[in-house]
Amino acid sequence: MENYLNTAVDIAREAGALLAQLFKRPKEISYKSRSDLVTDADRRSEALIVERLRSHFPKHGIVAEEGGGGQTESDYCWYVDPLDGTTNFAHGFPVFCVTLALAYRGEVVAGVVYDSIHEELFTAERGAGAYLNNQRIRVSKAATLAECLVATGFPPFADNHDLNIEYYYRFTQLCHGVRRAGSAALDLCSVAAGRFDGFWELKLNPWDKAAGTLLVTEAGGRVSNLDGGPFELLADPVFVSNGLVHDAMLAVFADVLKNRVKR
Ligand code: IPD
Ligand code: CA
Ligand code: CA
Repeated sequence: MENYLNTAVDIAREAGALLAQLFKRPKEISYKSRSDLVTDADRRSEALIVERLRSHFPKHGIVAEEGGGGQTESDYCWYVDPLDGTTNFAHGFPVFCVTLALAYRGEVVAGVVYDSIHEELFTAERGAGAYLNNQRIRVSKAATLAECLVATGFPPFADNHDLNIEYYYRFTQLCHGVRRAGSAALDLCSVAAGRFDGFWELKLNPWDKAAGTLLVTEAGGRVSNLDGGPFELLADPVFVSNGLVHDAMLAVFADVLKNRVKR
């Protein structure tokens, strides 16, 4: 497994260096839909990662956001987001990363998230802990909502009918604040590193959350869906926390849903 993680780290560092270089240049932006951006950097980073993965692990499957991967018969499958935080990247806001995770028979066993602007490399292997630049990281010790900083994210088409706006509003009243930094993979790493105490998002793709959820688990946190049921990589919602405030946050989701104003 170490070999897989080391290779993933080398590839993430190479793709991250490419993103950092392209970040300084004028961006070539196009639209997947009305507000879902894609840049030349997304495509170039993905091409690099997929090429490297194929040459190291020709039999493994690859699921990559921009469509460059391909499924195989293998029990191993890589989930790749070549640039998580595309909207930030396109606007020159330096919060983005590259993330790769390896799943064996559907279970994530290794993950890497690399923020090349801040030179932060997050890594985890199942059962072996979570690390930031090779130093062990752990979730925070906050035990009440009143002392928490939490985070969320919205899909490109969020509007004010989005249930998450209501969760956002309620947690703003209950915590130190709710951040929406624009990179789900980094948000998850911030929970693993104890910077945030919780994070949730209603619609995410597997490549956004595969590595980051493993990091949270390995850092001692809890991962579930928004009902407290088991987290599933291929299903939509994700909710992670330091574990200590998990039940209190679940109670807020349930209460908002129960009292939701019908529109
Ligand atoms: C997005 C980011 C964002 C999240 C969106 C994702 P992308 O990924 O992770 O934080 O809120 O749901 O789609 O498009 O920048 O790779
Ligand atoms: Ca993403
Ligand atoms: Ca992306």
